[in-house]
Order: sequence, then structure tokens, then C-alpha cells
Amino acid sequence: MTSTPSMTDKIALIDQWCSAARILPVITIEREADILPLADALAAGGLKVLEITLRSALGLSAIRLLREQRPELIVGAGTVLDAAMLEQAEAAGAQFIVSPGSTAELLDAALQSSLPLLPGVASASEIMLGYARGYRRFKLFPAEVCGGVAALKALGGPFGNIRFCPTGGVNARNARDYLAQSNVMCVGGTWMVDAKAVRAGDWAAIENATRQALQALDAAPPAELRATSTCVPSAPSSASCRPYDPVAAGVGPAASRPPYRDPEVFHEYRAPACRAVSPS
Ligand code: 3PG
Repeated sequence: MTSTPSMTDKIALIDQWCSAARILPVITIEREADILPLADALAAGGLKVLEITLRSALGLSAIRLLREQRPELIVGAGTVLDAAMLEQAEAAGAQFIVSPGSTAELLDAALQSSLPLLPGVASASEIMLGYARGYRRFKLFPAEVCGGVAALKALGGPFGNIRFCPTGGVNARNARDYLAQSNVMCVGGTWMVDAKAVRAGDWAAIENATRQALQALDAAPPAELRATSTCVPSAPSSASCRPYDPVAAGVGPAASRPPYRDPEVFHEYRAPACRAVSPS
């Protein structure tokens, strides 16, 4: 008999997958024939952690097929709305679960499940619903609508040990800004999975868009961060100030990013990176 992994183990898995992936593509399968070539195009472009939504009737069979045929990928189920869907996703072989929002029923069911759940939240109260049950990793959804980067900065105050995957309105223009936030572990979205290209079976276009999405994260830093080398420590006062460094800010190449250690889960504290300020 196998025992249910602890929340600490589940968080470690989420951190490992998210920091390696940086972008979690949100995929809705419309045709069975698209499943393998679409996953292959995303993987060839550099995205090997996939969220398959249960919005279409093919969601569960896509998860099952990918787990059988592409064991090298990490495949999660998205748009999981209740305990019954969680059970179906687990039976199909999903390795993680993502929900757009949080209900007590789903949060409780996932505690009994062997799979890590990334519960959706759009407010402090929803975070607290999960926090009380031990959850420390959330999907911020819909990220742009519920305040975007400014909301993440604000939530970082009361929820210093929480990390997010912002999703909903994230795109090529703003993904890097999101990833520069110290409480963002990865971003999610559909922008590299162009529906027209999928319908046309243009897998080269999907692979290319995926590669570009990842390359954009390593491009020049956002203007506001590039503007100056003056910075203010976010906390504590011992944090040293230094010029903008994309690797230190967490937006450098994945391989060079230091592994994140949650102060609560791993009992290791790290001073938050400096926050750059614009020159006056
Ligand atoms: C999701 O469920 O995460 C969203 O549908 C993704 O939103 P996007 O299409 O704005 O990326």
C-alpha cells in the first residue's frame, strides 16, 4: 500500500517542475489526432510540462495517451472543478492538477490524493482557504484581470511564503515581467498554442512560437528594471543592492537559476532580491 505524499513533497515536485518549465502551456484538445504532434511540437520548442484542460471531451484521453506514449513529459490536468474530476484525472494518469478556483470540497479531496494541486485564487480570502489546509503554491487566475504584477507585489506582503503561477492574460509582452516577481514560480497560458496553427496542423509554427516564448524570457530586461542600478531592498535591511541581473531576478536561463528553497518548507531563508527603482 502506498501512502499519500506529504504537502512538503507535493510542493517540492511543483517547484521542481515549474522552475524547470518557466512556462506552463494550457492546452485544450479539439481533435484526437492533434494530441501527440501538438505535445511533440511543444516539447521540441522546450516545453515539457503540459497542462491538458478537461474543457474538452478529449482531455482525459489525451492525458492517458500522453502518459502511455510520451513518458518523458510531465502531464497535468487543468480546469479540474470538483472532486469527481480530480479522481478521473488521477485515474487517467495525470501527474498534477490545476483548478481555476478554490472550493473547500476540491481542496480537501486533493489533500487525500497523491497528486499535487495548484488551486486557482483571485483574492486574499481564497489564498487563506488553501493556506489553512497547507497549500503554499497557487495559480493566480485570471492574472491580468485580478491585478497582474501589481497584485502579486501586494500579495507578497501578507503571504511572504506563497508562490504563484499567474495565468490568464499572460502573453509574450508581459511574461517576463511576471517571472521577475520573486513570488512567481512560472507563468501559464495559451499564447504559444495558436488555435489556427493547431487546426492547420502547422506543428512547425507551434514549435517556433514555443521557442520564441522561452527566448523572450531571456531577452533584454524590462525597461523599468534596465533604467537604473539603484535599488531598494524589499526586506530585510541586510539585503544588498546590486544592478539588475536577469539570473538573480529569476528570469535568466533555466539552467542557471538557483533552486528555490521555501523558507517554511525547507527551513532555509534567503534575502529577497532587490527591487529596482526608476531614476527620478
Ligand atoms: C487558463 O485556464 O489558464 C486560461 O484559459 C489561460 O488563459 P489565456 O488564454 O489568457 O492564456
